[in-house]
Amino acid sequence: MHNRYLEINRRRKRFSGTDIRQATTLSDLQHLAQKQLPNFVYEYIAGGADDEITLRHNLDVFSKQRFSPYTLRDVSHPDTRITLFGKQAELPLAIAPTGLAGLFWPDGDMRLAEGAALAGVPMTQSTVSMSSIADVAAVPGLRHWFQLYCYGTPDIYSRLIARAQECGSETLVVTTDLPVTGNRSWDRKNYSSPKNLSLRSKLDMLLHPTWGLRMLRNRKRPNFVNLLEFLEPGKQTLQDVAHWINQHKNPGLSWKDIEYIRTLWPGKLVVKGILRPEDALIARDKGVDGIVVTNHGGRQLDQVVSPLEVLPAIRQAVQQDLTIFIDSGIRRGSDIAIALALGADAVLSGRATLYGLSAAGTAGVTQALSILRRELETTLALNGLNNVSELSPDILVPVR
Ligand SMILES: Cc1cc2nc3c(=O)[nH]c(=O)nc-3n(C[C@H](O)[C@H](O)[C@H](O)COP(=O)(O)O)c2cc1C
Repeated sequence: MHNRYLEINRRRKRFSGTDIRQATTLSDLQHLAQKQLPNFVYEYIAGGADDEITLRHNLDVFSKQRFSPYTLRDVSHPDTRITLFGKQAELPLAIAPTGLAGLFWPDGDMRLAEGAALAGVPMTQSTVSMSSIADVAAVPGLRHWFQLYCYGTPDIYSRLIARAQECGSETLVVTTDLPVTGNRSWDRKNYSSPKNLSLRSKLDMLLHPTWGLRMLRNRKRPNFVNLLEFLEPGKQTLQDVAHWINQHKNPGLSWKDIEYIRTLWPGKLVVKGILRPEDALIARDKGVDGIVVTNHGGRQLDQVVSPLEVLPAIRQAVQQDLTIFIDSGIRRGSDIAIALALGADAVLSGRATLYGLSAAGTAGVTQALSILRRELETTLALNGLNNVSELSPDILVPVR
């Protein structure tokens, strides 16, 4: 496990208790997730593409920043709230879209949604979620955002857009950095063929009975339920849908699709997959409301720049015309502070909340978000700041 935070030695032990509220870092939650999940599931969450240079770099860029704090300022009222697309969010954060969450915990998307609603932040449901859009969007108090993979032709993906609208989704997030799937070779090693787990993976499941029993007790067989309508009745197993997805990947996706989607979607529209100022400017000119500066958490192109490195140039290019989110590597509240100081309006939480989910369902998501919140408040106070809006580049000194 790559861990830049904790020097584990004989005296310092990782958290391994059962009361999730005692877990004090995201690293604790990651450790619990790794213990509970079979290897093929953990690998799917934690792994990256090719040599995982990007995966590691995403964490390293945050650790290369140093704070330059003010002192003797009254910091008794730390305030982490922001206005996000016209509504208050308790943290400058939304939960990132992550597929297959139903394998990490039964009805994982529902649990992520409950955790998000309790913490007062939006949650983005993936196209390859294992819960229905209607069920997740109906979680009380949730600000529901829907992430679109533009599978197939516009007449196919526009049906998903229509469903998200019917279910009351507030924001549509269109992912653009997966024209083809990244080369996740570690992940592939867990399968004997694209559709079948290897014998070793099957045996490994037996070594994780808590996870297995939890999944069995749920009775529902995990599937990509939002895509079933595109398949013939009787040919709708998880493998059938995975095959359909492979056949309907859309390497021809272009800015024309974004123009078309803009005509269909009346709510807030976000493009997820921007790493260049030029592309941010095109997005703005196509009428989108926000962008996610991301490298997909190191799961797509390896040796690509990290979002944090290109963020200042992108902010400089678009000024205040777009809401800018960044993700990839957020594991501490201080990472959120750094992202905001360098020009982001908010971050997306991918693996951070998935580790909480995998460790303890809704309670784990809640714990992940409260750890991030506490750490962000502490970072603000120790920098002599009261409010996330006071974060600016002036608070940071980069180290080489
Ligand atoms: C297990 C997993 C599944 C993901 N599935 C999707 C997805 O379905 N759609 C999408 O746009 N991004 C997906 N992503 C990328 C995340 O939205 C986000 O960009 C990434 O997790 C950020 O990196 P971080 O996890 O290091 O914070 C996934 C990421 C993970 C870890």
